[in-house]
Amino acid sequence: KIPVIAIDGPTASGKGTVAHQVALRLGFHYLDSGALYRLTALSAIRKGVDPVDEHGLAKAAAALHCHFNGEHVFLSNDDVTAAIRAEAVGNFASRIATLPTVRQALYALQLGFRVPPGLVADGRDMGTVIFPRATLKVFLTASADARAARRYKQLIGKGISATMHDLLKDLNERDARDANRAIAPLKPAEDAYMLETSDMTAEAAINQVLAWYAAIRKR
Ligand code: CDP
Repeated sequence: KIPVIAIDGPTASGKGTVAHQVALRLGFHYLDSGALYRLTALSAIRKGVDPVDEHGLAKAAAALHCHFNGEHVFLSNDDVTAAIRAEAVGNFASRIATLPTVRQALYALQLGFRVPPGLVADGRDMGTVIFPRATLKVFLTASADARAARRYKQLIGKGISATMHDLLKDLNERDARDANRAIAPLKPAEDAYMLETSDMTAEAAINQVLAWYAAIRKR
């Protein structure tokens, strides 16, 4: 049985860093499912698909030609690593993620990432919908203030200007959209381990996930 570690949580909860590092240390593959929604959004924007054209958006998701190479993400053969991180693309992604047809179109693609020796999957519904029988499920949380502060540091580090006020507003809007959508709303799986990271370093969070995984494997 190929092990899967599902790591879910809200925007800017530190999932990406934690999941990526856990994958590296275990030698597992890494699925950044949010990137698939961002790629679909970028592809739709480039094709000029109307944001309310659900059928057109689902078609863009089903026809998604992407691949990952280390830290780089490609749409067809175009390196879009930076392009998919744009705020506009993130916002579009969070909107189309509410559409059942889009989520359905990305389902099989996500299952395909589960190959030996194992997978660390990062997202909103990894433990609830995509990998309900995952070996370990973790739900990462952090206060809105802590998450906004992390995003602020990240952006400033990249030389992008931002204000805490705008970041908090955007974060609260995204939380509401993720939690209230009819399909695959953001919520912990019943058997998820909860990890509150507001006052935790990334290193401590990574070690906690690795410790839980080691304990489960020993059983
Ligand atoms: O930067 P942020 O954490 O908000 O985004 P992300 O993880 O890159 O994902 C982009 C968007 O895709 C999010 O706003 C989610 O609404 C959506 N998403 C989802 O619905 N299900 C997933 N498994 C992953 C992301």
